[in-house]
Amino acid sequence: MQYGFFDDEAREYVITRPDTPYPWINYLGCDQFYGLFSNTSGGYCFYQDARMLRLTRYRYNNVPTDGGGRYFYLRDNSRDGADVWTPSWMPMKSALDRYECRHGLGYSRISSALNGLTFTQTSFVPIKDNCEIHKIVLTNESNATKNVDMFSFVEFCLWNAFDDMTNFQRNYSIGEVEAEGPRIYHKTEYRERRNHYAVWAVNVPVAGFDTDRESFLGLYNGFDHPDTVFAGKANNSLASGWAPIGSHHIKVELAPGQSKAFVFVLGYCENPEDQKWASPGIINKAPANAMLEKYNSPEAADKALTALNDYWTALLGRFTVSADDKNMARMAGVWNQYQCMVTFNMSRSASYFESGIGRGMGFRDSNQDLLGFVHLVPERARARILDIAATQFPDGSAYHQYQPLTKRGNNEVGTGFNDDPLWLICGVAAYIKETGNYDILEEQVPFDNNEELADSLFVHLKRSFDYTLTHSGPHRLPLIGRADWNDCLNLNCFSKTPGESFQTTANYESGIAESLMIASLFVFIGPDYAEICRRTGRTEEAERADKAVIAMIEAIKEHGWDGNWFLRAYDAMGKKIGSSECEDGQIFIESNGFAVMAGIGLDDGRARKALDSVKEQLDTKYGIVLLQPAYKEYHVELGEVSSYPPGYKENAGIFCHNNPWVTIAETQLGRGTRAFETYTKICPAYREDDSKLRRLEPYVYAQMVAGKDAQNFGEAKNSWLTGTAAWAFVSISQYILGVRPVFDGLLIDPCIPASMKGFSVTRHFRNAYYHITVNNTAGVEKGVASVSLDGKSLDGIVLPVLGDGRTHEVVVTMGAK
Ligand code: BGC
Ligand code: NOJ
Repeated sequence: MQYGFFDDEAREYVITRPDTPYPWINYLGCDQFYGLFSNTSGGYCFYQDARMLRLTRYRYNNVPTDGGGRYFYLRDNSRDGADVWTPSWMPMKSALDRYECRHGLGYSRISSALNGLTFTQTSFVPIKDNCEIHKIVLTNESNATKNVDMFSFVEFCLWNAFDDMTNFQRNYSIGEVEAEGPRIYHKTEYRERRNHYAVWAVNVPVAGFDTDRESFLGLYNGFDHPDTVFAGKANNSLASGWAPIGSHHIKVELAPGQSKAFVFVLGYCENPEDQKWASPGIINKAPANAMLEKYNSPEAADKALTALNDYWTALLGRFTVSADDKNMARMAGVWNQYQCMVTFNMSRSASYFESGIGRGMGFRDSNQDLLGFVHLVPERARARILDIAATQFPDGSAYHQYQPLTKRGNNEVGTGFNDDPLWLICGVAAYIKETGNYDILEEQVPFDNNEELADSLFVHLKRSFDYTLTHSGPHRLPLIGRADWNDCLNLNCFSKTPGESFQTTANYESGIAESLMIASLFVFIGPDYAEICRRTGRTEEAERADKAVIAMIEAIKEHGWDGNWFLRAYDAMGKKIGSSECEDGQIFIESNGFAVMAGIGLDDGRARKALDSVKEQLDTKYGIVLLQPAYKEYHVELGEVSSYPPGYKENAGIFCHNNPWVTIAETQLGRGTRAFETYTKICPAYREDDSKLRRLEPYVYAQMVAGKDAQNFGEAKNSWLTGTAAWAFVSISQYILGVRPVFDGLLIDPCIPASMKGFSVTRHFRNAYYHITVNNTAGVEKGVASVSLDGKSLDGIVLPVLGDGRTHEVVVTMGAK
C-alpha cells in the first residue's frame, strides 16, 4: 500500500494521507540551525547541538506518537458552532477535506482544506540564518466571507534537552519570557549563564498571545484540545516558571476567493556578553530585530526559499543520474545523496529514533559517512577529517565518539573499538581520491586534542595502520577490543549485570579475541595507504605496508576460512565464531562482504564460494540478514549480539549498513545482476508499495529491517541516521554504475544487470563535469569495450583530470574489449 509518490520533477516526496504508518519526516537546515519536521508538522528544532541548545520541546516515545511540533489551529467563526481544526492533521487528527505533505530538499509543505478554507504551510530553514520560517497562506475558496481565528503554538524547551525532561524540581521554577505583541521571546536562564534566547514571531499584528502552557491548553488537556482555541480568545498569559510556550492569536477576515499570507519565524539569537540587556531585565532584541526584518514579508520568505532551492540544485548537480529505472535514478541522484548530507549534519544525534541527547559523533561512523558526501562538500569533509583525527590517541587508538560542540573525545565511551583507527585511513583515502589534495597529509593535527602532541595527518594514518599490526592475536589476526564494526560483538565483556553497557564494560580483557572483520578492513584500506605513501615519496613505508597486507591475507586464508565462507571472529577462549561448527551464528555477513570487497579469495575461488554461501544462508526478499542461525539464547561470551530477540538488530536483522558491502563484493566477481538485486532489496523506493509493512519513509534508508526470524519480518526501524546511506551510495555510484574516483582520475567500470541497456551520469570531479553515457546494447554485466572523451577515443577506463570548469562528453560502450 502506498501513502504517497515521488514527484521527480520537483524533487519532492508527496505524502497523500496524514496517517502514515509512522511519522515520515524531513530535515530542515544545512548549516547551524536544524529542524526535524514530520508530515503532520511534528518535531523540534535546535541550534548546533540537539542536546545543549534545543529550542522546542519534543516528547519521544509519547502517546499519541509525534508529540510536539509547530502547530497551527484554525477556528472558523462563520460556521455554526465555530469549527476548530488543525490543518496539519495532528494534533487534533482533524477530518480534512484535502491533505498533502511535500517533503523537498530542506523544506516541507503541508497543504490542506476544510469547508472551503485552504491552508498551506511552507517550512524551511533559510541558508545561513538561525531560524525556521513557516509561511502560512490561507485562502477562502467558498462563496461567503470567512472570519477565522488562527492560533500558532510552539512549546519551548529549557535549552538543555536532557535536563528539560528530568529535572522538574528546578525546571518548573525557571521559565522566563517576554512578549511584545507578535514577538514572543523565550529567555529562560538568560539572566545568568546564557547569552541566547529564542524568538517566535509573526509579521502581522495579533489579537493576543499566550506564553504559559496551562493557560493556553488547560491543565488536563492535550495539544488536541486547547481551551483557548475553542474559546476563540487568547489570554495574554505571561509564563513564570512551569512550561513556557509561544502562541499567537490572529484574526483573519477573508472575502470569497481572497488569500492572505503570514510569515512566522522561530529563531535563535545570541548577544555578546556585554550587550545582553536593553534595560534592566529587558533583553537586547537587536539580533532578533535584524532577523525578523529580513523575513518580514511573504516575498522575503519566498526569496529565501528560492535561494535554498538553488543551493540544493547546485549541490546535487555534482552527481546526477538518468536511467530507465526510475527508482534507481531518483534514489542515487537525489534522495540517497540528500540522506548522506543529513548524516553529515546530524551524525547519529537527532532523528525520530535518536533522541538528540545521546550519542556524539562516532569516529568510525563519521569516517564512513564521509564516503557519501565527500563529492558534494569536499572542503567540509576535509575539516571533518581534521576534527576526527584530533581525537585520536598517540598510540593510534581513538575515542569512539566525540562531542560536536567541543570537538573533544567522549570520556564516557572511551576507546578500545579496534576497527576505529582504520576507518580514518578509509576517509582520508576517499578525500584524496576525490580532490587530489595530498597536502591534507601535511596538516598538523593534535593527538587527544592536545596541541603539544600534534603531528602531521600522515603520522596519524601511520599510527592507525600500526595499531592493527601491534594488536594482533594468536592467529596473527587483529584483536577485536571492545567491539569492531559490529558494536554488539562484545567478546571481552562478560556482562551479567542488568543495565551495564556492553560497549564500555571491559571485565574480561582476554587479549585473545580476534576479528576477521578488522582483518578484512585492513586488507581493504592497506593498498590505499601504501599508494598514498608511494605517491608522497614514502617508498619504504609503502613496501612495508604492502608486506603487511600480504601477511594479513595469508593469516586470513590460514585461520579465517571455514570451508565455505569466512569466519567472523575468535572469542576470548579462542573458539570460532561464524563457523559451521557453531550451533547458532554459523555465518555472518560482515567478514564475508568485506573480505571479498577487499579482493581476498578472488584468486582461488573462495570469494565466489563465500558470496554463494551468503546468498544461500543469509539472503531474504528484503535484504541480507546479518547472521544465521539467529542466537536464541544469551551468550555471555558474545555480548549484546545475543541479547536481541532473533531477527532484530545485530542478531540476524537485515542490518542495511553492511548489505552494500556484499553488493560491492558481487561487482568484484562481475556479477552485475546479483549486485543490482542486493542493491534494490534494501533500497526504500523499491518498497514503496509495501509501505504498510515497511512503515518508514520510502525515500530514505533505514538502519535495520526485521529479519526472517522476527515476527515483523520486513518492518524497518531507525531511518535516516545510518551508515547505510553512505555505503549504499558508494555501491550504486562507484561500483554498479561504476563511476569511481581513483588517485589518477575518474575510473569508469560499470557492473550492471545484462538487461540494463544503459544509463547516463553527470559527475563533478576535480573542477570539471563529466557527462558520461554508458551504452550496454551488448547486454553484458561487466567490461568496457571502448571509451571516448570529447569525441576522441581513450586508452583505458580512467578519465583524466581536466580541471577546466567545463563539461566533457564521455561515451562508454560496454562489451568485450
Ligand atoms: C546497537 C548498535 C549501536 C550501539 C551504539 C547498540 O545497542 O545495537 O547498533 O551501534 O548500540 O552504542
Ligand atoms: C550503529 C553504529 O552507529 C555503528 O557504528 C555500528 O557499526 C553499527 N551500529 C553496527 O553495530
